[in-house]
Amino acid sequence: MSDITKSGVLLSIKKVDDERISKSPLILNSIKSFELKENKLNLDLSLSIPQTSVDDELKSKIEKVLKEDFPSLEKVNINILAKVTAHSDKRKEALLPGVKNTIAVASGKGGVGKSTVAVNLAVALAKDGANVGLIDADIYGPSIPIMLGVKEKPQIYQKDGKVVMQPIENYGIKMISIGFLVDDDAPVIWRGPMASGAVKQFMSDVNWGELDYLVFDMPPGTGDIQLTLVQTIPLTSAVIVTTPQEVSLIDARKALKMFNRVNVPVSGIVENMSYFIAPDTKKRYDIFGVGGGSKLAEELGVPFLGGIPLNPQIRIGGDNGVPIVFDMPDDEHAKIIMDIARKLASQINLNKNSSPDIEILLDEN
Ligand SMILES: Nc1ncnc2c1ncn2[C@@H]1O[C@H](COP(=O)(O)OP(=O)(O)OP(=O)(O)O)[C@@H](O)[C@H]1O
Ligand SMILES: [Mg+2]
Repeated sequence: MSDITKSGVLLSIKKVDDERISKSPLILNSIKSFELKENKLNLDLSLSIPQTSVDDELKSKIEKVLKEDFPSLEKVNINILAKVTAHSDKRKEALLPGVKNTIAVASGKGGVGKSTVAVNLAVALAKDGANVGLIDADIYGPSIPIMLGVKEKPQIYQKDGKVVMQPIENYGIKMISIGFLVDDDAPVIWRGPMASGAVKQFMSDVNWGELDYLVFDMPPGTGDIQLTLVQTIPLTSAVIVTTPQEVSLIDARKALKMFNRVNVPVSGIVENMSYFIAPDTKKRYDIFGVGGGSKLAEELGVPFLGGIPLNPQIRIGGDNGVPIVFDMPDDEHAKIIMDIARKLASQINLNKNSSPDIEILLDEN
């Protein structure tokens, strides 16, 4: 059995024809435990893929390749540890050292469902096992506390001579809103500097702990305030929300340009209010047109993450402060959003530039 080595096993696993393997940077360190006893191999493998990607299909693909390469193997036990990879960005590391990825949810046009999408994506990522924080950075109309059913204000305390704000937790995510700091009646002209100041404070003074994803619900538009914000926040990716209609798509293009300007990779486009299925007749109505989001994604060369139909339950979930992905996980709309969150997680893992590329193939056996 001496022919079965850790590096040999690793080389073999690399041959598995599966995008989860090809997407994950495999180095010798990815094998967390390697135990060969008689003709049985016990393997703990760490892959930078979202938790939900781990399934029996992946394990049996790996097992098959290993058995082909090492015919003497009788039994292979594979345990896969999924982990969200950190995006390396010097500014993020300085400002948010415990946060692996920061995601802006933005749109050019207002009212397209940015906050609804941000809340549901954040809760969906948390349901899949990630540690998630959400910052409501919409200076014009902070709506996240309502959408998350949060009425209380965050607790503020002193620690080591420093003021610390405790994020509010609900539905498995940690949240802070600009509405907690900024006066609702402040004139819009004051809001730009306030927005940057408040967001800076959210990064330096909030006790986020370790987070896989910190999601920012951005104010609509692509003007100076928005540009200042995307320059203030060390963003590692952005999601653009649009409806299928032309006026929204035009503004989505502007949003993409804004992120390009500040070198933030756009991880995808989410089309919201894609269509409406009448509950009585089941007839589909393309209220805002059809296919605009996917066409735009193709045109701009960014991934299309999916389309969310117009649905009263999504609206009710927002108004009542119980996100649909939490409240009605079996509802088809909730499933669509879960699917978008998983695509986003894979896309973010793909975009990251943190993984060690150097392959260490020294054999430890
Ligand atoms: N897919 C959907 N189905 C039904 N209602 C929706 C859907 N998406 C959003 N809504 C509703 O549309 C309204 C606007 O959504 P939301 O507040 O999320 O948009 P926004 O882009 O964040 O707006 P703003 O630009 O003002 O911040 C809300 O009442 C919300 O509940
Ligand atoms: Mg909003």
